[in-house]
Formats: sequence, structure tokens, C-alpha cells
Amino acid sequence: MRYSEELIDEVRSRNDIVEVISGYIQLKKSGANYFGLCPFHGEKTPSFSVSPEKQMYHCFGCGASGNVFSFLMQYEQLSFPEAVQRLADRAGIALPKRELTGKAKEEADLRQKLFEVNKLAANYFYIQLKSPKGEQGLSYFTGRALTDATIRHFGLGYSNKTSDDLYRFLRGRGYADAVLKETGLFTYTEKGVFDKFWNRVMFPIMDANSRVIGFGGRVMGDGEPKYLNSPETRIFEKSRNLYGLNFARSSRKKYMLLCEGYMDVIAMHQAGFTNSVASLGTSLTEQHAAILRRYTDTVILTYDSDGAGVKAALRAIPMLRNVGISTKVLNMRPHKDPDEFIKAEGREAFEQRIAEARNSFLFEIDVLKRDLDMDDPEQRTRFYRETARKLLEFDEPLERESYIDAVAREFFIPKDELAALVNRMGLSYGTGSRPSAGANARGSAGMPEQPVKMQANPRKRREDGIRQSERLLLGMLINDPTDFDKIRGIIGPADFQDPVYRKAAADVFAQHEKSPDGKVLPAQLLSRYQAEGDDAQEIAGLFSEGMAASLRESGPKALTETVRKIRKNSLDVKLREAGDIREMQEIIRQQAELANLDLG
Ligand code: CTP
Ligand code: MN
Repeated sequence: MRYSEELIDEVRSRNDIVEVISGYIQLKKSGANYFGLCPFHGEKTPSFSVSPEKQMYHCFGCGASGNVFSFLMQYEQLSFPEAVQRLADRAGIALPKRELTGKAKEEADLRQKLFEVNKLAANYFYIQLKSPKGEQGLSYFTGRALTDATIRHFGLGYSNKTSDDLYRFLRGRGYADAVLKETGLFTYTEKGVFDKFWNRVMFPIMDANSRVIGFGGRVMGDGEPKYLNSPETRIFEKSRNLYGLNFARSSRKKYMLLCEGYMDVIAMHQAGFTNSVASLGTSLTEQHAAILRRYTDTVILTYDSDGAGVKAALRAIPMLRNVGISTKVLNMRPHKDPDEFIKAEGREAFEQRIAEARNSFLFEIDVLKRDLDMDDPEQRTRFYRETARKLLEFDEPLERESYIDAVAREFFIPKDELAALVNRMGLSYGTGSRPSAGANARGSAGMPEQPVKMQANPRKRREDGIRQSERLLLGMLINDPTDFDKIRGIIGPADFQDPVYRKAAADVFAQHEKSPDGKVLPAQLLSRYQAEGDDAQEIAGLFSEGMAASLRESGPKALTETVRKIRKNSLDVKLREAGDIREMQEIIRQQAELANLDLG
């Protein structure tokens, strides 16, 4: 069953977008709109705008846009019906019971059961740990200096040596194989079903809401694999979950500590650093970074001090930077990881290392230097140039200046020389200070003196130009419905080329006709696409970019030029498809007429 269009629109219109978004980020009024820092990409100056009149948001930086439903869907990772439900609750609107049917209901039930089973399993492992059978597991944890309170806090456990104990326990609780198969906790073979984990200490993995979604199991002592993890399931997505986040999210510290392992997180929490998390046996992903950004703008990397740890740090730094997190790197040496550091030197020493954590930029330069021989003139030059190239990535002149200062001091490079090199390279990259992505990707191997020129496909470029004009026209019509009167009979939805744009145009024109004051409500149109499961994201972008562009390009000739361009292109297409000479002559006549077009 679907909610009616009227109901969805009632929910939408009773949740003012400014109020809703203000619950998540700080907005400031400027002119007719509100501005704030975009929650969907990292930025230091606000380019995220919310229009109370249009009930839409748009980010000029990353292009994110939509109505109040899209905001919740994007921010909270909700489906459309979930977003509707949430906002209906907020506005005190009772929704009719939405009986899930068929596949959707099966899916929701299964997910629910997977959560139940994982929770039961965690309980089971915990009880095993505390039972006589679990003695070896318990003494392993105690040997690693974990207290009883810590074991309970993290729900640590033990999987015993019987090969199907957990399986029989859960079958006894009435769970069918159809469910148990999907948990990833069992191995199904011709000979029978076996527990995947046995004779291991168990680390339940919880999502941000403290629901158990999977497990890591460690061998006690040596053995391979050292850690065995639950496979990804319907409820366990490694790239979206961070170990320890359920606790760290409410630690109220200004920064987060990011490390590699389960034991590291636990050791740090036990020592009072409750703001630490780890990615789960995978390297950090963009989703991880975006999730971290919700809670903090500073991350201190406490990766292992070995080569792999350094490599992981070099990967993580730009990823975190991309979402607007500034990163520092903690020096773990001479120890391997936080767990070992804290065990050897204690919490105060670790606190001290946090205070001394190195700016990620200087860390990157330092790593660069480690691989090069400064006594070799060629390698030294390479170091200088690569350093200068990285310095060029700072857009802010002041920021760049202070980094030039710091780098020169720290790496004993004459400051004037470095500054001159940076300037020279900046000039050769063109007016902007940031090297093009192409140049960046080349890394240290071959450094281009010239910006890399992209060979754009001219046909593609023209098509993009048309799409841009089509967006612009829709934006103009939405912003100023009196334009509809000016273009009537001259251009219509059929002149739009892209099928998605054409459909959007048809709806915009139709809504204008229907509404008493001729106004178009893009936020309302959008919720219709969302309800129909269409790709609302593309249409949201189309509306928002069009509206933004129409505000920029509001000169007296803007409407005429835009209409002319779209209409000319549309006639070009017709001309290519024309069946006979008379039709062609008519099209050519219309094209000639376009030259005189003046919409005032
Ligand atoms: N890991 C994994 N599978 C492995 C090895 C490691 O999933 N075979 C993941 C685990 O999440 C582990 C993390 O990578 O916690 C870091 O691995 P490592 O540094 O080898 O282990 P430690 O966390 O130091 O574990 P311990 O101190 O128990 O040896
Ligand atoms: Mn370790």
C-alpha cells in the first residue's frame, strides 16, 4: 500500500525545511535564504543554502539538493517511506497503517530476526566465557590486562570447542535454517551445520545504536587466521560501521581517535580514551569518513607504527580531508599499537602523545622524505618539488604561507627557496593554485610542469550545454512564474531533449497550469518522484541547479537567449529526423525566425 499524494504533501508542508534542517546543522539567515556548512561534504565556508520559500536545499559546493524528505533520506540514510514516517511523527500526523506486503515484509522480518540472533549469540558467548568451559578464554583476556568491567562493557565472549553448540542452541530457540544461514555464523556442508567460530575469544561488533551486527573472533595465542570475522550480511556492512562508535559517539570529546584493531579500541577505552574507534578489518572507506564527520572535525590517527600502518595513514588522511576532517598522526614508537603502548607506558604517556600528535601534512612530508636520499641531488630536488606541489594544494594563501614556514623550519629547507619554488609551480599550473586532479594523480613519479589538458569530447560538451540551458529555463520558470506567459506558444516540454528533463518539464508546466496563482512548488513535485521510486536525486539536482543558475543569470537577455538555445537545438534534432523537403523548409523557416526572438 502506498500513501496518497495528498497525504505525502501534507507531511511535507507541515515540516518546514528550515526548522527540520536546523535540528541538524546551524543555519544563518542571509537575504531570503539560510546558509550553513554542508553536512554532505567537508567545507570551511558555508555553501549549503536552504530556501524557505521553495522548501528546498541546495549545496553550491557538492551539488547535494532536494526537499525535506531527501534531506532526511541523505542524512539519516532512510528510505522514502521511513522519512515520511519520521516527519509525520514530528508533525503529529497519523499515517494509516502501512501493511508491508510480500517481499518487503519478508525482508523486514528477516532483518529483525538477524538482529535477534546476533544478540542471542553474543549473550551465549558471554555466558560461555564465564562458565567453566570458558576458563581458557577468560584467562586470555585477563592476561591481556582487561578488567571484568571492560569485558562486560564490550560484551566479550568465548566460543567453545564443541563444533555445533551455538547452532543447536539457536535451533532450540526456534530459529529456522533459512534465518540461521543468513547470519554468517554457521558453515553449511553436506555433513552438517557447524559453528563458524569455535575455541576463539569473541568480540561482538555493534552498530552506532549498540545493536550486535556481527563478530570478530581471535585465536588464543598464535594460529591462523588470527582474527576471523562475520561475513557481510543484510545487517553487517563493514564499510559503514566502526568498532567502538556506539560508545565513542557520546564521549563528548572534541576529536576522535582512529586505530586499527579491536584490542586497541578496548585498551584505549579501558584507559579512559572512550573516543576511540576502529574500522573493521578493512581499510577506511569514504563512508567511514563521512560517518566520522557527523561526530567530529578532528581525528587523531593511532595506527600501527609499522609499514602497513603508515601506508594506511597515508590513505586515510586525504579521505578524511575530503570530508572536512583535519587529521593528526600520533607517534606510537617504539611500540606497535595503542594496546601495547598503553600497557607499556600507561595512560598519561599516551595522553602526552595525543598532545604531541603531528599535523597530517607534516607527517606526509616526513614519510615522503623517508624514502628519499637527501644526499643525492636528484632525489633532493624531487623532494623539494613534491613538497612544493603538495603545498600548492592549500587554496588559502595565508594557510599556505604558514605551512611553507613550518615545512622550511622542520625540514631545513631555505624558506625563500621553497616559497619561490611554490610560486613558480603555481604559475605553471595556471591561475588557480590547486593543481588539476590529473596532475595530482601522477604523484611523485613524473611531475608535470604544465597543467594536464583534458581532451573533452566536443559533442558531449554541446549536449551538456543544452542540458544546462534546459535546467536554467526550468529554474527561471520556477523562480518567476510570469515567465510562463512570455514563452507560451514558443517553447514547451517537447523541446526538452533529455527524457528525464522532458518529464520534469512536463510536470512543471502542468503544475503551473493547475495552481491558482501559477506558482510551481518543486519540493512537492519532488516528493511525487520519491514516492514513485524514480530517481528523485537527479531531478532534485536539476531543479536546484536550475534555480541557482537562474538567480545568477538574471540579465535582461537571459530568458531570450536560453529559450533560443533550447528551441534551436530542438529544431536541429527535428531537422535531422525530418521526412521530406517541405518539412525541412518549415523547420528552417522557424529557425530563421528565432533570430528575431525577444522575450523582453
Ligand atoms: N584483522 C582481521 N583479520 C586478520 C587480522 C587482523 O580482521 N586476520 C583486523 C582485526 O580487526 C584486528 C585488526 O585487523 O583487530 C588489526 O590487526 P592486528 O594489528 O594484526 O591485530 P591487533 O589488533 O594488534 O590484535 P592483537 O593485539 O590481538 O594481536
Ligand atoms: Mn595488538
